[in-house]
Amino acid sequence: MAQDPFRYVLYEVRERAAWITVSRPERLNALDRQTVTEIAAAVDLAVADDRVAVLVLTGAGEKAFVAGADIAEMSAMSPAEAQEFSRFLHRALDRIERCPKPVVAAVNGFALGGGCELAMACHVRIASETARFGQPEVNLGLIPGAGGTQRLQRIVGRGRALDLILTGDMVSAPEALTLGLVTRVVAPEALAAETASLASKIAAKGPRALALALEAVLAGGEIAQEEALRLESSLFGLCFASEDMREGTRAFLEKRKPAFTGR
Ligand code: CAA
Repeated sequence: MAQDPFRYVLYEVRERAAWITVSRPERLNALDRQTVTEIAAAVDLAVADDRVAVLVLTGAGEKAFVAGADIAEMSAMSPAEAQEFSRFLHRALDRIERCPKPVVAAVNGFALGGGCELAMACHVRIASETARFGQPEVNLGLIPGAGGTQRLQRIVGRGRALDLILTGDMVSAPEALTLGLVTRVVAPEALAAETASLASKIAAKGPRALALALEAVLAGGEIAQEEALRLESSLFGLCFASEDMREGTRAFLEKRKPAFTGR
């Protein structure tokens, strides 16, 4: 069923996946405040939607995923407004990263600046061969402000992150794959189908286990290993309180497919 309560975002649920499409093609889907607010609201909608097991974030058209924060809107900001804008972007992207349902970025074109940062807040990144990635902020006399100085180094390592951030260079999708910035690259015409098939594969798993796996990896990644391993053990223990765990193990032993309910 399709719903369209937004101006710059399309929200559509297809086969247990909520497709959130950033659609401001005349600005290459650049992120102004309104667009970011709508993306965050669409994520909240998908989290609350019982039909949805997985979220997909993509850009409208073939040229851009998201070409960054809206440079026209930013150009008029005072230092205090820019700081608040950065915090606003952090809150929105944190909401995506902390989403209890897996979020897949289907990167269909330019993912620059805030666009690359948006993709990095997602849990899995699949790209079209024609996608281009970069943190070109230094070309504008600024630095990444939507988490890029932090998420990029956590994903690709500090040396590679600094290379990208200090040069502002763009990399192709195959280069992004080598860097580990994306984990899958497909032909442009196959992106939608490959994303849908990846989303259905994830959607078939136990939702509780998916949420707990996300929490263990993401929350655990931010704390000391000893503490993170304790967190892993308690979340592992929590799985055993779920019907899904009983069903998943029983189905294996009975040599059949599990029917997960999310309980
Ligand atoms: N903000 C506002 N408008 C943008 C935009 C952006 N980030 N990116 C593109 N546009 C607009 C262009 O101004 C242009 O508008 P007009 O038709 O009115 O001139 C339209 O989208 C089409 O873009 P181009 O004509 O530039 O298209 P192109 O094919 O020649 O180039 C591009 C494509 C290389 C992506 C180029 O548009 C570009 O370099 N965009 C800016 C990329 C960038 O610097 N992003 C980082 C922004 S800063 C940031 O994101 C900060 C942060 O961390 C939060």
